[in-house]
Amino acid sequence: MSEPPPHPHDPAPPESLLSWDALRLALDTPWRVRLEMRRLLSWPMTRLIFALAGVPWGRGWRFYGVPILQKHRRSTLLIGDDLSLRSIPHSNALGPNHPVILSTRRAGARLIIGRGFGMTGGTICAEESITIGDHVWVGANCVITDTDFHPLDLEARLARPLDGTTAPVVIEDGVFIGMHSLVLKGVTIGARSVIGAGSVVTHDIPPGVVAAGNPARVIRPLDTVPVSRL
Ligand SMILES: CC(C)(COP(=O)(O)OP(=O)(O)OC[C@H]1O[C@@H](n2cnc3c(N)ncnc32)[C@H](O)[C@@H]1OP(=O)(O)O)[C@@H](O)C(=O)NCCC(=O)NCCS
Repeated sequence: MSEPPPHPHDPAPPESLLSWDALRLALDTPWRVRLEMRRLLSWPMTRLIFALAGVPWGRGWRFYGVPILQKHRRSTLLIGDDLSLRSIPHSNALGPNHPVILSTRRAGARLIIGRGFGMTGGTICAEESITIGDHVWVGANCVITDTDFHPLDLEARLARPLDGTTAPVVIEDGVFIGMHSLVLKGVTIGARSVIGAGSVVTHDIPPGVVAAGNPARVIRPLDTVPVSRL
């Protein structure tokens, strides 16, 4: 069986752990040694959590720290190959505020994530439907949600506190969402678009643009390689 390619979210590993390249990498970037140890230690608990939630395990998945899964038994949570989730503060320079949380809170909720997905801390919470394409990267401490969580009207909020308005979210292939951004209900972000750091996405963003701000607006078009070549 041939070796899998280097993981898209990590630098190419040394040929062997007993090589000069490995020693050089360990000396130059000592935090990676600790991180790799944390990655190996995270594996059994993470595997158990996914198994208990009934989420099928994918190929090439990497976990730095243990994520939090909140999956309703009668919801759907599916994730493609080459997942990379960073859930501990020293897992990269931006330091997640809390472990990655993936949540499908209601019966019938759907959270579908394509292959090559990467996320550092932050939350994805689906009460209706969140669909994420292939090769989507989400920067540190973002929130993606398809629900307002609580009703806006006071009487309704007191009577049915968990009955906030929902609308599906779609994030298409190759989108890159900058750190500390919020993607709110009913939004589609078009393929290959980039969302600037700290943005609040409340309306659809077309494909192939850079958008940023609160509310996020298109800054300029973006020229990138097609997702098929990633
Ligand atoms: C969105 C981003 C990629 C755009 O970079 P860029 O194409 O070089 O854009 P520029 O810096 O030339 O800015 C263009 C305009 O957009 C504005 N802008 C850029 N980023 C913005 C942001 N995050 N929020 C609001 N406005 C922003 C700039 O102020 C500038 O406005 P002006 O034309 O009125 O002066 C970059 O600003 C950014 O947010 N980088 C951080 C990515 C990130 O979060 N990485 C970590 C992931 S873990």
